[in-house]
Amino acid sequence: MSRSLLRSIVSSNVTSSDQTTFTKEYGGFSLPQIWAFLERKKRSNAKQRYTREKEVTARLYDHGINTHNILGFDNIARRLTVEYVPLTPFPDIFEDRETHIDDKLDLLYKAFETLKDIHNAGESHGDAYLKNFFRDERKKSDRRGLVYTCDFEIQRVSPDPQVTDILLLTANAANTLAKSNGVDQAEIFDLVTQAYGPVQGYQLQIRDHLFYRARFLRTDPFFAHFGDTRMISIPR
Ligand SMILES: Nc1ncnc2c1ncn2[C@@H]1O[C@H](COP(=O)(O)OP(=O)(O)O)[C@@H](O)[C@H]1O
Ligand SMILES: [Mg+2]
Repeated sequence: MSRSLLRSIVSSNVTSSDQTTFTKEYGGFSLPQIWAFLERKKRSNAKQRYTREKEVTARLYDHGINTHNILGFDNIARRLTVEYVPLTPFPDIFEDRETHIDDKLDLLYKAFETLKDIHNAGESHGDAYLKNFFRDERKKSDRRGLVYTCDFEIQRVSPDPQVTDILLLTANAANTLAKSNGVDQAEIFDLVTQAYGPVQGYQLQIRDHLFYRARFLRTDPFFAHFGDTRMISIPR
């Protein structure tokens, strides 16, 4: 089997960068179907992901969000070239036990403000994991804010994709901060309410319970906070 054929089946994106540009090329996807279902990821091919990333990024950049400034694109090769930005991914900071909890909570607060700005612009992030939020290491005068975000290629199959964004980021942050700093999830819920405002969750389905419990070890308070707790109880 040729290398490129193999890549188109098993691999997803290819990224590269130099001192001034960052380039992403969209490739085939082979996500296990059951996991995609639990995660509410819409099945989409490389062309669809490329198109969504390009359009949402451009719209959000125009709205003043601290995200990619697109420098160029190639619709045939499905290649997007953006400005290179020195970034520290949130997981590197949040998993580090040496970093003070107040610094982490400040970044998280700003990430939820960013999410709110994205939603106010009429978009959903689609992949609001900690790994897609960054501390922007540019000088204050050269950046739009301390928190940077990107990676909008995914769409969620959800009654409300914006609520899905909030659930994902909350669960991911609560899980990581519980491990690294022993933070109680109630503290994260308070932070979300302060930064974003109250959130009306949707009725969480069995798949949501499976996903958030398996992926983020979220427990009953999480489900009570964001939606109806609907579980199947197996009669004994
Ligand atoms: N403009 C950029 N400048 C520098 N590094 C970037 C830039 N955009 C993304 N990165 C780095 O590349 C990684 C992958 O980018 P991302 O768009 O999230 O692609 P993927 O879909 O592969 O997760 C990011 O986590 C970040 O570390
Ligand atoms: Mg990413």
